[in-house]
Amino acid sequence: MGHLSNRHIIIGVSGGIAAYKAAELVRLLRREGAEIRVVMSRGARAFITPLSMQALSGNPVHTELLDEDAEMGMGHIELARWADLVVLAPATADIIARLAQGRADDLLTTVVLATPAPLIVAPAMNQHMWLNPATLANIDTLKARGIQIVGPDAGEQACGDTGPGRLLEPADILSAVHQCLPTSILSGRRVVITAGPTREAIDPVRYLSNHSSGKMGFALARAAAEAGAETILITGPADIDTPERVTRIDVESAQEMLETAIQEVSSGADLFIAAAAVADYRPVEMASTKLKKTGAELSLQLVQNPDIVQTVATASYRPTLVIGFAAETDNVAAYANEKLTNKNLDAIVANDVSRQDIGFNSDYNAISLWSRSGCEMTVEGTKLSIAVSLVQRFSDMLSGVANQTKGQLGD
Ligand code: C5P
Repeated sequence: MGHLSNRHIIIGVSGGIAAYKAAELVRLLRREGAEIRVVMSRGARAFITPLSMQALSGNPVHTELLDEDAEMGMGHIELARWADLVVLAPATADIIARLAQGRADDLLTTVVLATPAPLIVAPAMNQHMWLNPATLANIDTLKARGIQIVGPDAGEQACGDTGPGRLLEPADILSAVHQCLPTSILSGRRVVITAGPTREAIDPVRYLSNHSSGKMGFALARAAAEAGAETILITGPADIDTPERVTRIDVESAQEMLETAIQEVSSGADLFIAAAAVADYRPVEMASTKLKKTGAELSLQLVQNPDIVQTVATASYRPTLVIGFAAETDNVAAYANEKLTNKNLDAIVANDVSRQDIGFNSDYNAISLWSRSGCEMTVEGTKLSIAVSLVQRFSDMLSGVANQTKGQLGD
């Protein structure tokens, strides 16, 4: 069952170059089981065809307000009542202005005006249009009415400008949908996640560490919390905001991360996800004062750190599911499978860190999930969309385990 099974979502598309991203949003929402109806403005149809949106949504696309055939099928009021949520993506400056005025002169504005469902608006326009006081005042009006505005992002624009006005990535709009329509596939579950790098002190001012940003672990924490889990995020130094409803515990060294993980997991957890890039070695001892240059060679003696995920996976308090990560530069599948067995994991998320476009500091990633029965899935996209897919799969695995146990008990 998907996060959004049986949820009715209207995707309203208005006329902007970012209209093509609405197609990806529809795909992501349907993958989670949502039922989608697409309403397109006249302008939207200049950028993307209703036929594409029909194929992706699996339903006829709605375009006209005063169309007899359409009204006999699902008319505008019925459509407005049907929706659990309306998402306007992209929302142009014009439709934002018309919503602020409460106009109802085409199907899209009429549905928005007639629906009792919550509304998410994802603006996309040229940066000057976005920064125009008229648009900003309209946005304030919509916010004051309880409409949720997501984005826009800043960056390079289709018109060549650089600034605020880009449509938020579909995965981030998806995340706003999750917050609006909370799902519960992990409710009642306790999830502990490690994230980020560790720092191994050499002296009071220096340390050994690595390039991990923590983004994947934070994305998993966000997806788990949005799926209803009590989520504990044990993180090494990472400059990322804590996702909502996530309990964050900051640590520095591998030793500290291990102690915190044991404490959190032994007090009860269903799922442990080891996304941290734990330093394999630490200095045998930390110098109590800053080391000085002497002109001579300096040798650091290192000792191997304990393996956190292996410790958790072989302990008496082992959670039902223990998931590891394998960042490799070559032979990704082979090394991942070796770790799966050696560390006593239920599954391992493998990624190829030799690729320049994805991995450590990027917002994007490409992963494959391996269990004892082989490759479970491969996903490429933003770290958040990958996290959402993984969390869904982990939830299925947890339910599978629960069903197996039931079966064994003869239920
Ligand atoms: O052995 P390697 O470091 O490649 O394994 C990676 C996996 O093991 C990741 O899930 C990482 O979080 C976990 N790990 C750990 N403690 C260590 C080293 C790795 O939990 N000391």
